[in-house]
Parts: sequence; C-alpha cells; structure tokens
Amino acid sequence: MGNAPDAGSGRALVVHPFVKQRAGRPVALRDPEGRLAEAVGLTAAIELDVVHAETISLSKVRPATFIGGGAVERLAGVIESLEVDVTIVDASLSPVQQRNLEKELGCKVIDRTALILEIFGARARTYEGRLQVELAALTFQRSRLVRSWTHLERQRGGFGFVGGPGESQLEIDRRLIGERITRISNELEDVKRTRELHRESRRKVPYPIVALVGYTNAGKSTLFNRLTESEVFAKDLLFATLDPTMRRLELPSGRTVILSDTVGFISDLPTHLVAAFRATLEEVREADILLHVRDFSHPDSDAQRDDVLAVLRDLGIEEKKLEDQTIEILNKIDLMEGQGNLDIPSGKGRRIGVSALTGAGCANVLAMLDDAIGAEDITRIFELDISDGEALAWLYQHGRVTDRQDRETDILVKVQLAPVDAERFDARFGV
Ligand code: GTP
Repeated sequence: MGNAPDAGSGRALVVHPFVKQRAGRPVALRDPEGRLAEAVGLTAAIELDVVHAETISLSKVRPATFIGGGAVERLAGVIESLEVDVTIVDASLSPVQQRNLEKELGCKVIDRTALILEIFGARARTYEGRLQVELAALTFQRSRLVRSWTHLERQRGGFGFVGGPGESQLEIDRRLIGERITRISNELEDVKRTRELHRESRRKVPYPIVALVGYTNAGKSTLFNRLTESEVFAKDLLFATLDPTMRRLELPSGRTVILSDTVGFISDLPTHLVAAFRATLEEVREADILLHVRDFSHPDSDAQRDDVLAVLRDLGIEEKKLEDQTIEILNKIDLMEGQGNLDIPSGKGRRIGVSALTGAGCANVLAMLDDAIGAEDITRIFELDISDGEALAWLYQHGRVTDRQDRETDILVKVQLAPVDAERFDARFGV
C-alpha cells in the first residue's frame, strides 16, 4: 500500500506481559506465546522491524510501570544493545505507565490500543473508515494527552503514536481536540446518511450476499481471490482489509451471489475501537450467508472461532443465522499433518476443510454455498405467454428451471426459486 506509515523504518521490541495464574484458577484462554505471536504479527503489519520479542510473566500488575522493576531493567539493557526505537507492550497501559516506561526504557513505548489504531489508520480505505479511525484515535489521545493532534493532519496513514517528525509538539490542546471530534462526528453523520442511500440502491441488487468473516490472518482475502479469481490486496499482513470489497460470483447451479470480504476480527479489541469497525460490520448483518474462515492450523483456532462468534452475536446476528446460514471454512489444511485424512470435526451446521492457497476444497465451497442458499428454495409452476420472453429469461437467470413444456400458446415452466425471488417475480411480472 502506498500509505504505509513512516514509522515503518523503526526497530521494535515486542513484549506480551501476562499475569500468572495461581494453582486452582482457570488457566488463561490462550497461551501467552500465541498472544505474543499475534502481537508480533500486528507490529509487522505496520512495517516495523521486530528485533526481539518475549513474554513476561507477572505476579501482579505494577501501578507505576505495569511490568516489574527487574524486568524493566533487563529490557532496558536489551533495548540499548539492540538499538531498539520503539517498544510495543501488548497490554492496555495507563498514560502514567506509558510515560514511566518510556523514561526507564529510554525509548518510545506504545500499547495495544495505539498499535491497533496505527494499523487501522494505515488500512482504512474508505472515507468513512478513515473518519471512524480518526475519531477513535482522537478520543484515545484526549485521554492520554501525549501526542499532538497535528499528526492527524498529515496524510501518512499512521497517527503518530509510533513516532516520526513533529514529536517535539507534545503539548496538546484539549479544546482543539474537542472541536475536531465534533467536526468529525458531524462529517460521519453526513457520510452515514449517504451510505444509507447507497445501501438502499444495493438492496435492489437481486442477488444473495455472502460475507466472508473471520479472525485476522485466517485467509479471507486469499479465499476471496481464489473464489472470484480477482485481485484484492492480500499480503502476509494483519488487517489487509478494513473496508469491504464486493465481487460477483457465479455458483455451479448458475446462481449469482455477491461475495463480500470484511476486516479481520481480533481478540480483546479495545471497546473504544469497536465503533471504527461498524461500517464494515453493518455489511455482515445484511448478508444472507456467512462464510466463517478459520485458520484451522492455528493453535488457538478454537478460541479464535469463539471470539468471532461472540462479536457476531454482539452485532445482533441471530443464533439461527449463525447455525443455519453460516459455513465454517477450516482453512490452511495444507499446513496440517496427515492432510490426506484430515479430521473435520462434526457438529451442527456446515463445515469444510480447504486450502485457499492451493485451492484444495474450494470447489466444494461453491457447491456448499449453492446448497445453503438453495435450502430455502420453493418450487413454483408458471404459465407464461409464449411472447413473454422477458419473464422466461428472468426465471432462468434467478431460479433453476427443472421442467419446461412449450405448448401452442403458452409455456409451462417448473422452477425452484428463493422465496424472495418468487416475490420479486410476482411483483415484476404480475403473475
Ligand atoms: P486480514 O485482512 O488481516 O483479516 O487477513 P485475511 O483473513 O484476509 O488473511 P489473508 O488472506 O491476507 O491471508 C493471511 C496469510 O495467510 C497470507 O500470508 C496468506 O498467504 C496465508 N494463507 C491464506 N490461506 C492459506 C492457506 O490455505 N494455506 C497457507 N499455508 N497459507 C494461507
């Protein structure tokens, strides 16, 4: 992408601090190494050069520096010898903790929220996406009073948490930030109104919408490309997609659907960043079918699935849709041992093992989609006037004609149709 943050030249150290569980307590949901790997992936996504990464186990969180004094001292040594420019602490730091750490470590420190904001800033492609992220960044800054809002004026994708020119202007003006927040909120209202209009016109598109959802880096963009054979931005970077991308896709039955790629979910998304997702998540609510893409080779694959489902439920997606209208795509089977006889867990609903990278199983995804969309189909018989070529063509395009009798004055067709298409047909051709 052309607008990678200029923070990209820095050498980074990544730490994932976690509080040790006492015996008898439930163990942490995910293993800290997995969390560290995710933090490293997020850091690499803003093109920082990760020169060292480690987990740090704490007996408790220190109010002054989050991590303990011994660990801080040791890290300061590593930072000096490896010439680290920025330390990513994969936790939510208070402004005081951040400042104290910067002093004691002798380098810039950013926490998880700031890191995610940097990524969103670099990835947001639509105007609305950028406004949402900017609003989240301003709100975050107002709570910290650490960086100048003027960074936001620059067209560089990032937000200045990581560094870059202008760092001397650390004085922040609450009033100016407040004004800017108001201005952006107003602009967002305008944009949302226009989006409603756009959506209205899209609802008229007479095709079912299939949305790809899933944990970040699960392979959504790769599958999207594979299925549509089109080119979207897919790289080994987290959050390669912030705004939905839509493409037409033809299924084996001849049905046309619209495939929509969405931004990846992450665990523990800071609550004040959730709004920045709304624009893309709205699309998911309107989808007829969800393709839930999972990195099945990932050690935390089950926990990731639960995260995604929790977010979808939060969004108000009904349980019925999650059960009946969702296909679980168990991706990256090429990375798994014994892939020839891969054990696909059984259970409620549809699931299928694929490799978006090699294409294995992808044809079955299309067949399964056909099946899922067709599950609600009804059968109707129409008597069309022999001259009514338009209605006949419409039925061929939108349904599956299973029988046809051409008679002297009319044509009898038996068609399987989605209920919504049957209604559309009646409305349009007045049968
Ligand atoms: P976000 O946009 O961050 O949400 O990611 P995404 O879910 O769209 O993932 P993307 O398609 O960008 O893929 C992430 C990485 O996984 C890329 O390096 C892909 O090449 C790789 N990948 C995707 N599918 C497969 C697969 O089936 N097998 C293997 N080995 N790698 C895959």
